[in-house]
Amino acid sequence: MKRSPRLVRLVLAALALALSGIALATPAWAHAELVSSTPASGTRLEAPPRSVQLTFTESVDLVAGGLRLLDGSGRTLATPEPVASGRTVTWPMPPSLGRGAYVVTWRVVSSDGHPVDGAFTFGVGAAPAALPDTVGAASSGRSSTAPAYVVLARLGGYLALTAIAGVVAFLLWCAGGARHDPALQRMARAGIAGGAVFALASLLAQGPYAAGRPLADLLDPPLVRDTLGTPFGLATVWRIALYGVLAALAWRLPAVTSRVRRRLVPVVIAGVAVTIAASGHGAASGSPVELAVVSVHALTGAVWVGGLVVLVLVGRSVERRALLDFSRLAMASVLALVATGLLNSIQHVHAVEQLFLTRYGLLLSAKLALVATALGAAAVSRRQLGRSRSPLLSVRAEALLTVSVLAVTAVLGTTTPPPTVAASTLGPRPGATSALNANRQVTVSLGDGRSAVLAVLPATTRGSTLRVLVSTADGAPAAVRRVALKLANPSRGVGAIPVPLTARGTFWEARYTFPLSGTWKATLTVEDPSQRAVVAAGDLEVSP
Ligand code: HEM
Repeated sequence: MKRSPRLVRLVLAALALALSGIALATPAWAHAELVSSTPASGTRLEAPPRSVQLTFTESVDLVAGGLRLLDGSGRTLATPEPVASGRTVTWPMPPSLGRGAYVVTWRVVSSDGHPVDGAFTFGVGAAPAALPDTVGAASSGRSSTAPAYVVLARLGGYLALTAIAGVVAFLLWCAGGARHDPALQRMARAGIAGGAVFALASLLAQGPYAAGRPLADLLDPPLVRDTLGTPFGLATVWRIALYGVLAALAWRLPAVTSRVRRRLVPVVIAGVAVTIAASGHGAASGSPVELAVVSVHALTGAVWVGGLVVLVLVGRSVERRALLDFSRLAMASVLALVATGLLNSIQHVHAVEQLFLTRYGLLLSAKLALVATALGAAAVSRRQLGRSRSPLLSVRAEALLTVSVLAVTAVLGTTTPPPTVAASTLGPRPGATSALNANRQVTVSLGDGRSAVLAVLPATTRGSTLRVLVSTADGAPAAVRRVALKLANPSRGVGAIPVPLTARGTFWEARYTFPLSGTWKATLTVEDPSQRAVVAAGDLEVSP
């Protein structure tokens, strides 16, 4: 079959450019992470603080009621409104703050639209007390998956783009004569109307999701206002507007092949793909290159899958010439799709074991298996076409498989990627967690043969010394620029509490009182002198 070498060369050149861009870009956090707080967690202050400040790895947005100040008994105190500016949230404190222990619980939204939360403590003229149990009950904790309504709204958005992009690409590049086909007319209109409806649904569902409130609150004006003020909200409003433009340009399908519209409509459809990327993980790092890669990925995916659905709809009436043209278009789309998909994967998954150890990795593996099967069916279709036989059966299989790829992607796009920059997230190695009296240690692998040991002496709620030692493969202390430690107790709803460590020669140390007993998740971020950060996590049993 005739290939299109110019097109292939173009796609490859664009990808090489994208790859170098990503290589040069600074590493991206998948979601915002708390870098520091003022006062730092566990600080005893002599005078009440005028404000509390939280600094994150990327810019964040506030959600209604997201920040709460609790006193030592777990009662929520009235506080002035916090203000978010870029990566920093500043929260004025009430002037009447008396002596005692306080807990700050926070929930903010990352640029990709996903909420993150946590808690920390401080004391005024008193030791910062343990986090009260009510914090666990009141905070929803950090979950790696979004609720079903968020996933469904995202999937609806993908399917709508697939419908309109598939029909338009097929008409403009394969079979202009099919523009009067009523089935294609219906498919295009379903895409345009569905696109606007699902974008609106995403916009409204985002408020309750971000604030951790019930879905019934979706029309709550402050929640809608909060969403509109976020990058997610802005991108989604743009998506609704672009579907409005598409309704004006392409509601009557035959008009799409006119001289002006055949140029305009593809641009507006590409715009829709950008707004989808801009309201997901593609927007998390703020890098325009990453946004472009995800946009191209979503667009070429829609062209391929949508085109397959068109072929299934028009069935045997489609001419061989159109089939050959579609085969070429599909080939170029698949090429771009696989290459941009690989770039997306490298952005989010940093070690092979993450493909098997994390929920995100498992979903990505399932997606890859489905894509591989669809490519197998595509090879059969091409062979059939080469032998002048009808590929309808294998095209149906391709369409079914690729639509399921979209379903898996909707879950993937709303699942927290592995929590790191360039990471290897491992649980404690078998046998690495040993109980020596009440002392415990967690050993985590940092890749390149390096490992970190977190020793907790003793692992009880009565006050502990935490020590972190980072060693090379041969056991010597490794060169480390910075070590950060966060402790979370997800089952009690306590999100990552940063524990400041002090460098002491070959190891790092902190005093810390675990507020609750149970299984704590320790997350270590280790930055080497070249500023390459690795994050690894392990579980730790803390006794009463
Ligand atoms: C039938 C083929 C494929 C289709 C239809 C497809 C479709 C999509 C779509 C629509 C997105 C969503 C973008 C967003 O919501 O921001 C996406 C994201 C992604 N795709 Fe694909 N894709 C396909 C193949 C691949 C392949 C071959 C790979 C890997 C080699 C891949 C890896 C990814 C990754 C890692 C993401 C990012 C998910 C996230 O937001 O965290 N995809 N894909």
